[in-house]
Amino acid sequence: MDRLIIRGGKRLEGSVQIRGAKNAVLPQIAAALLSSAPLEITNVPDVSDVTTMLALLQEFGVATQRDARSVTIDAGKATNAVARYDLVRKMRAGILVLGPLVARFGSARVSLPGGCAIGARPVDLHLKVLEALGATVGVEGGYINANVSAGKLKGGRIVLPFPSMGATETALMAATLARGESEILNAAREPEIADLALCLVAMGAKIEGAGTQRMLVQGVDTLRPATHHLLPDRIEAGTYAIAAAITGGHLELLDARLEHLATVGAALERAGVQIWPTDRGLMISRSGRLSAVDIVTEPYPGFPTDLQAQFMALMTIATGASVIRETVFESRFMHVPELGRLGANISLQGSTALVRGVETLRAAEVMATDLRASVGLVLAALVAEGETTVHRIYHLDRGYEALDRKLVQCGADIRRVTE
Ligand code: UD1
Repeated sequence: MDRLIIRGGKRLEGSVQIRGAKNAVLPQIAAALLSSAPLEITNVPDVSDVTTMLALLQEFGVATQRDARSVTIDAGKATNAVARYDLVRKMRAGILVLGPLVARFGSARVSLPGGCAIGARPVDLHLKVLEALGATVGVEGGYINANVSAGKLKGGRIVLPFPSMGATETALMAATLARGESEILNAAREPEIADLALCLVAMGAKIEGAGTQRMLVQGVDTLRPATHHLLPDRIEAGTYAIAAAITGGHLELLDARLEHLATVGAALERAGVQIWPTDRGLMISRSGRLSAVDIVTEPYPGFPTDLQAQFMALMTIATGASVIRETVFESRFMHVPELGRLGANISLQGSTALVRGVETLRAAEVMATDLRASVGLVLAALVAEGETTVHRIYHLDRGYEALDRKLVQCGADIRRVTE
């Protein structure tokens, strides 16, 4: 298993290319199952979750072709197979094939998913969405079985009790091929949802209100060939923004968009970081001291849970105390004890962390536990005195393209050791 050895203390300077969003490409690969015509997605990040998602589609007889920056997915000859446990367990986004399979074939059998171990993460909302569109859904032996007796889903009214990204995506994809009109209320508003809608519309779907809490979908019978260019990854951009901030550096994030990071940008500014848009993306700089800032994670446009671990790493060396409240995933604090090994002063009470800033962090051996927690440890290691080893970094490779190489290009001292 690979590990990273990071010698802290280098300021980051230069530019980083931000790639297409991982959380946008995964649902769009699943959406290709809706159509018998090919879908080309461009600006695709080279991360292992994309490989896993494509492998899952190949199980259904889908032809996939991956070039340096694009994938073409042709589900023309797809058959309705079982989405097996050993593929779906690797990644929670595997659940996203459920809606398209039911919509296209009238039935599906999909393993309950795995993914990062960050709380209970049930899939009940995905199942409720399909029931609202006329499917009968049951769970047995670790598998979800969904069936539509009429053969085709029927448009309906879907009211989500929580604006779940995944359930909103399942609803959009399933409603695309349902008979008649569907209304999705309390929909998630993340930019990746609007991007999925753009992709579906390019494929021939009829969707109104994408990016708002109320979406209307008019079902269509068939879809057409399409090409879609992914939006930039706001979580990758936010991670590098915090890397610049924590090292007191200066980075330009090429293709990053400030409008997707408004809440994060505001929190960084309050902490003493400068952030401004440029012709090419976004500039981040810090020269003064860091001040403690409180944050609460919330669905978009609130502070993203996927940047909570990174922001906490930043707060470990800020002046003062920061209260970090996690409201999206109940136990997303696995990075807390590991940050403690680096000398951070953090106490946890339920879903709230109190981070008291310390003068310096010191190197230690730490263990990556999930994707965003791992990158939080890497950021802390960039400023820890001495040589930190981050073990089990396969999590990082799931969602960050060439993280170590990009950081090294900006001046970080990092070695990857492969065993
Ligand atoms: C997506 C993102 C993930 C991000 C998360 C929240 C992808 C591939 N992943 O995950 O990186 O951290 O949004 O922004 O896009 N819930 C239920 N029942 C369900 C579904 C969700 O109770 O059926 C709960 C979850 O346990 C969690 C909350 O809703 O507490 C948010 O989950 P959701 O927005 O669905 O996250 P994902 O789509 O899995």
